[in-house]
Amino acid sequence: MWRPPERIRWTPDPGHWPTAQEAAGSRLFSPVQIGPVGLQSRTWVPAMVPWRATGDGEVTDNVLDWYGRFARGRPGAIVVEATGIRDIPSGPLLRIGHDRYIPGLTELKNRVRRESQGHTRLLIQLIDFLAIRRRPEPEKYFERFLKITDRHRDALDARDWPEDQVRAHLAGLPDDRLDDVLSERELEALRQGYHERVTDTDLPQIRELPEVLPGLFADAARRARDAGFDGVELHYAHAYTMASFLSARNTRDDGYGGSREDRARLPLEVFDAVRAAVGDDFVVGTRFLADDCIEDGNTVDDAAWFGTEFAKAGFDVLSLSRGGKFEDAKQPAVGQAAYPYTGPSGYECMPQYISDNRGPFGRNVEPVARIRDAVRAAGCDTPLVVTGGIHGFAQAEEILQADKADIIGFARQSLADPDWFRKVHAGHGDVVRVCEYTNYCEALDQKHIPVTCQLWDRTQLDTPGISKTPDGKRRLVAPEWGPDAES
Ligand SMILES: Cc1cc2nc3c(=O)[nH]c(=O)nc-3n(C[C@H](O)[C@H](O)[C@H](O)COP(=O)(O)O)c2cc1C
Ligand code: SF4
Repeated sequence: MWRPPERIRWTPDPGHWPTAQEAAGSRLFSPVQIGPVGLQSRTWVPAMVPWRATGDGEVTDNVLDWYGRFARGRPGAIVVEATGIRDIPSGPLLRIGHDRYIPGLTELKNRVRRESQGHTRLLIQLIDFLAIRRRPEPEKYFERFLKITDRHRDALDARDWPEDQVRAHLAGLPDDRLDDVLSERELEALRQGYHERVTDTDLPQIRELPEVLPGLFADAARRARDAGFDGVELHYAHAYTMASFLSARNTRDDGYGGSREDRARLPLEVFDAVRAAVGDDFVVGTRFLADDCIEDGNTVDDAAWFGTEFAKAGFDVLSLSRGGKFEDAKQPAVGQAAYPYTGPSGYECMPQYISDNRGPFGRNVEPVARIRDAVRAAGCDTPLVVTGGIHGFAQAEEILQADKADIIGFARQSLADPDWFRKVHAGHGDVVRVCEYTNYCEALDQKHIPVTCQLWDRTQLDTPGISKTPDGKRRLVAPEWGPDAES
């Protein structure tokens, strides 16, 4: 993972923990309404992919255990991981692209209701993503994948050569010469691995996205409703399709790119289709970026404009992330796919303890405050969720008291200790397992293997009945706390 060159080491400092009485009187543990649904506290577990679904995207016992464990900590809301809206193979990522997924998701909802004793509201994040390929072996790329065009022949002065000869010649060229012969996209396909972009409108499947996506998102949202979820979060963040439509780098000229109005067109059409499918008594929220954190990407001003339009359109909740883009991702090893959290924008998304002088804690707070101000100035009271490096009660409470956000997202902190909410509420903050922001979990995510936390995954491994990774070396959920504690 990329880290700021300053390499300053930061230690999390949760500060003062409240007594049970202080917690009860706090804003963090006060209720908040998100559209038609009330949360009992302003605490939120944002979407985190734990890589526990089957290869067909079905809910497994390990998925149920994972969300059941979070639910026992009783946050105000849990957002289930990014879940694919298409009925296509997507590896062990949860899917919701067909009605056959409804029974598994219903079980998931039942588990969360039961384990949280009805305290926690449940949303599911709906994602669409474009095709991405692994970085190829250069020989294979020149032998098979590269489409030889007249441009290559002209550049090589090889008009009359048979195609095999052009390919063999290209394969032998040094890098700097390839820079002159191959197009930018061809070089990217060779060095990073090919990936589709929303601007590839010469490809029918990309041109047709505005016709196809509203229906796909709407059907997925209807399934979430049928499974008994409280709502959906439309994933308009990071490196995925909808964020790419919003991006300032989206230059489509079919009314779905260019100006802010045109970049927001599809996200708003998707929202309208989803709302029409699920009605007004079901939460429809979105996660989008407070800042793309890449050159020529969206800034906080764009995000404030989009946030206002989303609020006016009727989204029930706006959750803000930052960065996490492909554009500045690190070059993957041959045979691996590029991962959008490996460059500076990835750092902004999941900041690590080795940081710059701003540190990894609360980097998204001021941008979210600006977006919130814009939303409020437009007369909308839509709640905003801020996430990023928040681990202490005092820090969370200060953000809320200063009206910088309405709900606090704790992603890695709730992975480190899913009981954070219950402990702090009960006046036991002193026994919270504080996240160290090492990004061990994120490295597992990058490899698409079961995500766990280094603070607990090798503890109490001999507890009877716990589930472990296939090699038996890591437990899959955090040890219990309180009356349920493992001895
Ligand atoms: C293992 C892992 C998986 C994640 N998966 C998702 C995801 O599916 N969707 C999403 O919007 N963000 C995802 N994120 C980002 C988090 O939701 C969150 O925005 C980020 O970790 C920063 O918040 P934190 O500092 O509280 O961890 C993931 C983060 C981690 C660590
Ligand atoms: S592995 Fe645990 S301590 Fe490290 S960043 Fe992830 S949640 Fe925090």
